[in-house]
Amino acid sequence: MQGLANKVCLITGAGSGLGRASALALAGSGSRLAVADINAESAQETVSMIDSSGGQGMAIHVDVSDSTSVQLMVEAVESAYGGIDILVNNAGVVGELKPLHEVSEESWDFVQSVDMKGVFLCSKFTIPGMLKRGKGVIINVASVSGFIASKTGVEYTAAKHGVTGLTKQTAYDYGHLGIRAVGIGPGVIETPLTAEWTCEGGPFHELTTQAPAGRYGLASDVAKLVCFLASDDADFIHGHTIPIDGGSVIR
Ligand SMILES: NC(=O)c1ccc[n+]([C@@H]2O[C@H](COP(=O)([O-])OP(=O)(O)OC[C@H]3O[C@@H](n4cnc5c(N)ncnc54)[C@H](O)[C@@H]3O)[C@@H](O)[C@H]2O)c1
Repeated sequence: MQGLANKVCLITGAGSGLGRASALALAGSGSRLAVADINAESAQETVSMIDSSGGQGMAIHVDVSDSTSVQLMVEAVESAYGGIDILVNNAGVVGELKPLHEVSEESWDFVQSVDMKGVFLCSKFTIPGMLKRGKGVIINVASVSGFIASKTGVEYTAAKHGVTGLTKQTAYDYGHLGIRAVGIGPGVIETPLTAEWTCEGGPFHELTTQAPAGRYGLASDVAKLVCFLASDDADFIHGHTIPIDGGSVIR
């Protein structure tokens, strides 16, 4: 991929799953990584993995739903690395997986605050630095639940639809100022988040095994797409959320 060497990438939720795999892949392409997570220990583990493969990374504790915490994260990365070239808004949680009338208000608020407000806050505080430098890439990790209804629950489906809209608006507002915003819509990928879903007979078993690819996704499948979208090779892709789902939602 063109243009990833020496870039500074900030990835939220990079202590696990898709975020960790993407951090390792970007570090392998020569980027410097800021690995942010609410779980400081797991963020540090990712950094140790980057270090041991010869890359460069720093761990940061953040709660993406908290404005002050996000502001401190962005300041820490900018002061350590001089600026942020690529922001990957990846941190996310799922809700109660129940029909709407049974979902608690707490679960609704929690999922919106991490999955949607978190993307808003991290972008809000990173964009000013990108504007000063006249360039930047923002990758928002949505989901196929940003396109369709499924068994992932109303809080998650609503939040991920929100993220696809937020991505379009970010691209619309900032593309002409040098900031390229794009989204990713993974299907069911094997990570700790989906551990209970990907077993035999799990809620997405049929959807996934009957899809063209016939398998669950791997974190490395998504990491490759993150690297492509972060690179200069994806220069003409703005505002869209790219599905990566083995074809599970084509019908
Ligand atoms: N795994 C899938 O099948 C799948 C499919 C579609 C979309 N996604 C999305 O991909 C993203 C990553 O999912 P994953 O499967 O790697 O999950 P994961 O649970 O393995 O990793 C999520 C990470 O986010 C961190 N996190 C949670 N709340 C946070 C907060 N408030 N602030 C900072 N960090 C926080 C967690 O500590 C964890 O390290 C999420 O946005 C998820 O919705 C995943």
